[in-house]
Amino acid sequence: MEEEIKKLITAYYPIENIDNIKVFNGRVIVTFVNVSENPQSTKELQEKIEAMDGVKKATLIYTANKAFSGLKQADDMWHIRGVKKIIAVASGKGGVGKSTTAVNLALALSNLGLKTAIFDADIYGPSIPTMLGYEGTPPTTMDGKTFEPFVNLGLESMSVGTLIDKSQPLIWRGAKACGALQQLLCDTNWGDIDVMVLDMPPGTGDIQISLSQKVQMDGAVIVSTPQDIALIDAVKGINMFKKVNVPILGLVENMSYYICEHCGHRADIFGHEGAKKTAEKMGETFLGEIPLHYSIRENADNGTPIVFAAPDSEYTKAYEAIAQKIKFKLGL
Ligand SMILES: Nc1ncnc2c1ncn2[C@@H]1O[C@H](COP(=O)(O)OP(=O)(O)OP(=O)(O)O)[C@@H](O)[C@H]1O
Ligand SMILES: [Mg+2]
Repeated sequence: MEEEIKKLITAYYPIENIDNIKVFNGRVIVTFVNVSENPQSTKELQEKIEAMDGVKKATLIYTANKAFSGLKQADDMWHIRGVKKIIAVASGKGGVGKSTTAVNLALALSNLGLKTAIFDADIYGPSIPTMLGYEGTPPTTMDGKTFEPFVNLGLESMSVGTLIDKSQPLIWRGAKACGALQQLLCDTNWGDIDVMVLDMPPGTGDIQISLSQKVQMDGAVIVSTPQDIALIDAVKGINMFKKVNVPILGLVENMSYYICEHCGHRADIFGHEGAKKTAEKMGETFLGEIPLHYSIRENADNGTPIVFAAPDSEYTKAYEAIAQKIKFKLGL
């Protein structure tokens, strides 16, 4: 079917401008790169694709072709409608539990009565669709131009993962990645959100810097595990946000300790209080610690993160205590 769609497209746009064709359950999403949209062509193409056997809905996405200047200019900012406050959950290092923390904090903020959304900006390894149980489902659109957010477990969400085929290693770079992120963030019909949690890609490279500049962020939460190697990268993360004038809300120490269920013994597997000490040294707030526990991993993997699955657990209380501090800092 992809070949057929490609043939249809080449009557309108050069083949090298096709970035990606995704077909799923009668839904087709075509992503273009380095080409500006011709509304007439979009309409015709969409109709032609939708007339194909087995296609119910087609969406065409045009990603930006402008190089990112890296300069913060007011008129250059992305305008995200329907969202009051935006916070980033970030870390310099990969795999420290950013997404797990982001999704559980979003659920905890929602438990505190805030209308909450989570946006998965991790172009390298989007994991929110798995954690919220909609892996493999493409977004819906009413008008063929804007997306409806997913609504799961009381959260509105959107993920760059809905445009990326997980089985294909796809490295998005520079303008292309930013264009897709911009489109998903700005063209999703968010419904009066009090706070949006942005799950950032790991690292402090160009994409992360651009994102921190283009999105009007109200604060950043830095996640780190207790060991030095992760903390060095956490410091890099803090410095990146500071450079682009995004306030640091504080540090969270994830995988802080492990309590044995059988004997109650506490083990500081990766050391302890490293993030707290780093926060103190840098004059930043220490927001709290989250223990290492298989139920945190298991529930996130199963699409029902612990704050949803076990609302009375000590883990949920730990996330809620952090969410409370964030809510206060944001003045919500
Ligand atoms: N507190 C915790 N207890 C147990 N497992 C955890 C905890 N936090 C995260 N994990 C697990 O660790 C792994 C990495 O977590 P996660 O995907 O949230 O990290 P990440 O920083 O978002 O990674 P990436 O940089 O790849 O985006 C996952 O399998 C997750 O379930
Ligand atoms: Mg992640």
